[in-house]
Parts: sequence; structure tokens; C-alpha cells
Amino acid sequence: GMKFTIVGAGSSYTPELLDEMGMRRKQLAVREVMLYDIDEKRLGIMEGFCKRFSQKMGLDVEIKSTTDLDKALYGADFVDTQIRVGGNKQRVKDEKIPLQYDLVGQETTGAGGMMKAFRTIPVMLNVARRMEELSPTGWLINYTNPTGLVTEAVTRYTKANIAGFCSGGIFPKMWAKRAMGIPYEKVQYDYVGLNHMNFISNITIDGRPVTEEEFVKIAAENDDVDLELIKLLGVIPSPYLQWYFHTNEKVAKFKASPKTRGEYVQDLEKEVFAAYADENNCEKPAALAKRGGGGYSEVAMGFVNAVYNNVDTKMVVNVPNQGAVSFLPESAVVEVGCLVNKTGMQPLHVAKVPEMCWGLIAAVKNYEQLAVEAAVEGDVRKMKLALLAHPLVRQWEYVEKLVPELLEANKEYLPQF
Ligand code: G6P
Ligand code: MN
Repeated sequence: GMKFTIVGAGSSYTPELLDEMGMRRKQLAVREVMLYDIDEKRLGIMEGFCKRFSQKMGLDVEIKSTTDLDKALYGADFVDTQIRVGGNKQRVKDEKIPLQYDLVGQETTGAGGMMKAFRTIPVMLNVARRMEELSPTGWLINYTNPTGLVTEAVTRYTKANIAGFCSGGIFPKMWAKRAMGIPYEKVQYDYVGLNHMNFISNITIDGRPVTEEEFVKIAAENDDVDLELIKLLGVIPSPYLQWYFHTNEKVAKFKASPKTRGEYVQDLEKEVFAAYADENNCEKPAALAKRGGGGYSEVAMGFVNAVYNNVDTKMVVNVPNQGAVSFLPESAVVEVGCLVNKTGMQPLHVAKVPEMCWGLIAAVKNYEQLAVEAAVEGDVRKMKLALLAHPLVRQWEYVEKLVPELLEANKEYLPQF
């Protein structure tokens, strides 16, 4: 049986992973689930809840916990990482600081997303480097955001096996199911771009192209990007393209809202953790469904099944390009459809890149590569170049003011600068 380690197990997502293990218990021979976190209090609550929850499901696994990273990683077959360096407290700053300049404030993109990358990449590189020694054949399954940048950093600077994920990879399947009740396995599509900067095209149901009517029904489930715009494009952009195609409208909306998403999540977490801490409770709290990230556990365990049981599976993964996307460097991490099995994942060549999107994708990749280098080297010049390359920042007047402010707001978490 396998050892499955969760780094950042104090996260409210952890029971979702156990739930998925429970549903796949006949498929996945999990022997041990090792919970690791630096926050002893949350770790303790989570260990207690996970034990009750798995017992209730009849899932027969040994649940352990530790605050010792080496012990957590030693001999692990899979290491699922879901950390948030600085917690939601720092996320709120990522959201608020850019907004002061009428710029998008968001945890995964723009100037805020870059700061999350700066806090996170050194910690993730350490996990990957310890894995090189302690679990060299294991797989790092990353859900830590910004997942594209984290995956790029780990593949560029370490030898650890990493697959970077986002729940967005299965959104088209979720949309087709919600709109028309079509089961996941009947829906296929081409997927091209980067994490939170991607486009879905050539959707098929049962192997035949969708009709125009079906396309519109599926597209209408993406309620962050205007439907008229999607019809014009003829391909479905990631919901995160709202920040690029509706920038002013979204910024105005967020400036007017009393709380940022991070502040809302902080409140939600109090409710969720109170339920986890209740010793008579062995059910996932309803409030958990109000968090994003739904579907991630399904993707993660689908990957485990593909690799561990050597089942050829088509999945969207963050992976070095290797020629799959013609206009990006070979080594750049892209988020594309891949064939996954025990040999790892092979990106599928994207035959036809949808017109109009490659300029945006290339600009954001340019930003990402500079941001990763800035994060590793602690290089303020590269930090400025990264922001100048980012389509959501770009102007020098913003960059000049933002850089000192962002560094100051994050100084506790940036030993490299
Ligand atoms: C989506 C995104 C994730 C992101 C999550 C945020 O699932 O794909 O990248 O982390 O939402 O959820 P939250 O509840 O923290 O806003
Ligand atoms: Mn995501």
C-alpha cells in the first residue's frame, strides 16, 4: 500500500482528499495518510476530524500527523502540497494593495499573485529538495498557488517529480454535467495556456463535436466571462480571464465590496474549523462548499490512480512544454492536456491554438518566468521587470510605487530579498 503525505494538512481542504480516497477505496491501496503542518493547533484538529471522518466512511487507513517535515516526506509515494505561506492574512494584502491603485488584487495573478509566489517558492523548493533525498521516486502533487509558477520553479531548480494542478482542468466536464447532465467520461476538449490563463476548444461529447446550442449551454456555466464575448471567441476562456477581459468592471466591483475574498474566507474558516473541532462531528461541514477549489481532490486522486495503477488517463496538468505549445519555450511550464500513466505525464501537442489568445498567454509566461527568477534570486530588478511584463500591471508609474510597498508588506516572509 502507498504512503500519502499531505503538506499543509491543517488546510480546510484536507477532508476533501480523504473523501475522494473513500470513494476510490477499491481502486487506491492507501496504507498510510501522513498529515504535516507547521500549525500544531490546526494539525491536531484535523487529525482528530480525519480519524472520525474516515472511520465513518469505513475507510481503512492509518492516519498519522507530524510537524517534522523529513518524517512526513520519508518514503512517501505521493506528497500533496496545499500550503499558504503567511496564511489568509497575507492573502488579504495581496488583494488590497493593488486595488489601491485600481489594479486587480487577486491571490494568483497580478502584483498580488506575484507576492504569493515570492512567499511560497522558497518553501516549496525546500519541500522538493528534501523529497530528492527522502522520497526520490515519489510524486509531488501540487495545489499550492500560484500553481503554474510553483511548478515552473520546482521543475527548473530541483529534480523532484512534480505535477501541478488546478481544479480548472475539469471545469468543462463540470459545466457539461451541470448544463445537460452529461457524465464526465463522455466529454473531451483541447486545453491550452497557463494556469488561470487558458482556453478550451474543440469540445466533443461521445466523440462528436458539440453543436452550437450545446456550446452555448456549456459556456453559459462560466459566469465570470460574458457569454456574448465567449460566443465571439468561439472558445471558452478560464474564469480567471475575467480579470483581463472585464478589468475595469471587476476592479470597480471589488472596490465597492465591503470585504475581499480573503476576508470572506477568513470568516468562513472560523465556521469550518469550529465544525472540525467538534468531537461529536464526523461530517464535512456544509460551509466547506463555499470555498473554491471544489474538484481538486478528484483531479489529484485521478492522477494517483493513473500513476500508481498505471492506467492511461487524459488529464490537464502543469508540465514543461516540450513543444506542446509551439510559441512558448520548450522548458516553460504550461497547463495543457496530458497523457498520464506510471511513466509520468506527456503533454499532448496542441494542434490548433485558438486565434487571438497567444499574445496574452506569451505575455503572462514572460511575467511568470521573470517572477520565478526574482523569487529564487531575491532580485528586485527582476521583480520590476516581471511587473512591467504583466498585462495587468505594465505601467512604470505603478511599478515604481508598488515595489517598495509590496516588499514592506511581505518582509516577514521574504528571507531571499
Ligand atoms: C479555485 C482556483 C484555485 C483557488 C481557489 C480559491 O478553485 O482554481 O486556484 O485556490 O479557487 O478558493 P478560495 O475559497 O480560497 O477563494
Ligand atoms: Mn486554480
